[in-house]
Amino acid sequence: MNRKQVFVWSRRIRLFHWINVIAILLLIAIGTVILNGKILGISTEGKVLLKTIHVLVGYVFASNLIFRLITAFVGKGYERWHKILPFKKGFKAELVEFTQGKKLAYKGHSPAGKLMVLALLSVMTVQMISGLVIAGTDIYYPPFGQYFAENIAVDKDNIAAIKPYSKENVNAAAYQVMRDFRKPFITAHVYAFYCLLLLIPLHIIGVIMAERREKSALISAMFNGYKYLPKNKPDEH
Ligand code: HEM
Repeated sequence: MNRKQVFVWSRRIRLFHWINVIAILLLIAIGTVILNGKILGISTEGKVLLKTIHVLVGYVFASNLIFRLITAFVGKGYERWHKILPFKKGFKAELVEFTQGKKLAYKGHSPAGKLMVLALLSVMTVQMISGLVIAGTDIYYPPFGQYFAENIAVDKDNIAAIKPYSKENVNAAAYQVMRDFRKPFITAHVYAFYCLLLLIPLHIIGVIMAERREKSALISAMFNGYKYLPKNKPDEH
């Protein structure tokens, strides 16, 4: 027993992680169907239903992500930015040490892990912001839906008549302006989706490789919070 049990991941980090996994898998599945709606011959009603479900799951994903971003500012220990991102002084040296295989166990993330956290959180944030904007311009859902519906309405007192894919009470010119505005957000949403499809398998492969190298039980640590680190090498990274 030359290893010690060390508590690393708090309950809220572990909860965030698994809610995030489930929400992203659902969003990828529904998003893939929406993306291939034409090929699959999905009706307009079907599309609106899929988009509504996608947006409702999206709210879970977005609230969870916002919670995580706030925790990184106000939380403790390994919840905080300086423990999870690759911007701390000395990161380059840490990375060199890592690539040369000089250090085998990390209490928090390895340098490669920190780069992955940065990539995942950035892409997820782009996905969240673009998703919330297109939810407003497409099915007129919060937080921006009311604003866009008011903008394109002919009769501003009858906003309730504005429905997805319907021309009722819609000012054609204002509608076109809204569609043009939304284009870059759709592009960002689709490219961020492709990035996630690349990053998720890389993240899983990275975790498996790290576990084979470190043998610190880092997969079960995301369930129970504990890693098993070499006794003789205390490490605060
Ligand atoms: C990891 C998270 C997410 C993934 C992987 C994802 C993926 C996708 C994909 C692949 C599409 C199809 C794009 C297209 O047909 O052009 C899509 C569409 C959409 N997403 Fe997401 N999404 C995510 C999060 C969100 C969030 C947080 C929201 C809002 C709450 C959202 C709202 C929408 C809407 C409204 C559409 C329909 C766009 C259209 O009109 O085609 N998404 N999403």
